[in-house]
Amino acid sequence: MLRVATEDDRKALAPILGHCFGFPPEEVPDWLARAGHENVRAYGDVGGLIVVPMGQYFGGRAVPMTGIAGVGIAPEARGGGVATQMMTEVVREIRASGCALSTLYPATVPLYRGVGYARAGARYEIEVAPAAVATRDRALRIERIERGEEDLDVRAVYARFAARRPGFLERGPYIWGRIFRPRKGHHLAFKVMSDRGCEGYVVVSHKMGDGESEVNIADFVALSLPATSRLLDLLAGYGSIATTLRWHGAAPDLLTSALRDRRHSVRVTDYWMLRICDVERALGARGYAADGALDLEVRDDVLPENAGRFRLQVRDGRASVDRGGQGTFAIDVRGLAALYSGFHDARTLADLGELEAKDDAMLVADRLFAGRAPTTSDFF
Ligand SMILES: CC(C)(COP(=O)(O)OP(=O)(O)OC[C@H]1O[C@@H](n2cnc3c(N)ncnc32)[C@H](O)[C@@H]1OP(=O)(O)O)[C@@H](O)C(=O)NCCC(=O)NCCS
Repeated sequence: MLRVATEDDRKALAPILGHCFGFPPEEVPDWLARAGHENVRAYGDVGGLIVVPMGQYFGGRAVPMTGIAGVGIAPEARGGGVATQMMTEVVREIRASGCALSTLYPATVPLYRGVGYARAGARYEIEVAPAAVATRDRALRIERIERGEEDLDVRAVYARFAARRPGFLERGPYIWGRIFRPRKGHHLAFKVMSDRGCEGYVVVSHKMGDGESEVNIADFVALSLPATSRLLDLLAGYGSIATTLRWHGAAPDLLTSALRDRRHSVRVTDYWMLRICDVERALGARGYAADGALDLEVRDDVLPENAGRFRLQVRDGRASVDRGGQGTFAIDVRGLAALYSGFHDARTLADLGELEAKDDAMLVADRLFAGRAPTTSDFF
C-alpha cells in the first residue's frame, strides 16, 4: 500500500533513495524536507516516491498537475512489478485528489507508459559562448535580487512568461526552492528594470572547471527584446573567464532570437511524460487555440473510471466537457496526453495506433490543440 511516509518510513527510505540516485543517505532528509514531508510516499518497506503539487500551462491556462520525483525501489525488490504497482496507486491517488494531470521525467519509459503516461514534451538545453551574447545594450537598469522566492517582481514576470509557453510549470515551493535555494552551488540573481517596472530576471551560478568555467543560468525570463538584450549583455560580462553559458527553455524563443550570432546549440536533454488522470477536468481546465467540438472515446486500461465518451465543446477558447457524445474520436489515454500538450498531431497518433478518427475530426483536434512545441525549463 502506498502511504504518506511516517518518520520511521522516511528513515527507512533514506538509504534506499540515496542508493537509487547515487548520493549519501545523510543528504536524503534535507531533500525530503524540501519536498514537504506530507508529499513523501512510502511503498511497503522497499520503495517510495515524492509527489510535487503544482500546475502546468496549456493554452495559456495553468492546469492542476502533480509532479512525480524520486521514484526508487530497493535493488533486491526490482524486476517484479513493484514500481508498476506503486505508480498505479499514485495515479489513482492523484485522480482521487481532484488533480487533472501528472508529469514526470522518466528514467525508463516503459514503466511509466505501462501506467498511462506518454512522452508529451521536451526539455531543451541552450548553450552559447559568452562572447556571442554581447549586445552592448545597457539602456535598462540591472538590480540585484536578494530574496528571490519572495520577490513579487520575479513571481509576476515568471507567471506572464510561463503562461505563454505550453508545458511550463506553475511552480510550487519545491520548484522555486530548486532555483533560488539549490542544494549545491552558489548563485546570484538579477532583474532588469524599465520605466514600466521589472521586465525579466536571471539566476546565475558560476563553476570553475579545469581551466574552463561554466555559467549555469537556473532561470532566464524576459518579457521584451530590450530586457532580453540587457540580460544577455550582463551574461556577456562573464566572458573574461567563462567559456560556456547554459540555460533551459523554449527554443526558438525570445531569448535565442535575440542572439546576434547563429552559433548556439540547442539540445534535447530529456523528454517529460504526461498522464491525464482526469480527462474531464484536464480538458475543461486548459485554454484552446480555436473553437470547435470533438466527440472523444477514451481508452484507459489503468483507470477505468477515466475511460468512456466525452463531448468537448470549445467556444472563445474555453471548454465545456460532458460525458456522452458519439465517440467518433477514439483515442488511448496516452495518445490523448501527447495531443493535449501539442507534442503530436492527430495524424501521427493515428500512425502510432493510438487514435482512430476520420480526417475531419483529426483536423478539428489539430486546430484545438495547436500551440508551440511543449517544453519546460525546470527539472524535478
Ligand atoms: C526504475 C525502477 C523504479 C524500476 O522498479 P521495478 O520495481 O524494478 O520496476 P517494474 O518491475 O515495475 O518494471 C516495470 C517496467 O519498467 C521497465 N524497467 C524496469 N527497470 C528497468 C531498467 N533498469 N532499465 C530499463 N527498463 C526498466 C521495464 O520495461 C519493466 O517492465 P518489464 O519487466 O515487463 O520489461 C528501479 O529500477 C529503481 O529504483 N531504479 C533506480 C532509481 C530510478 O531509476 N528511478 C526512476 C526515476 S524516474
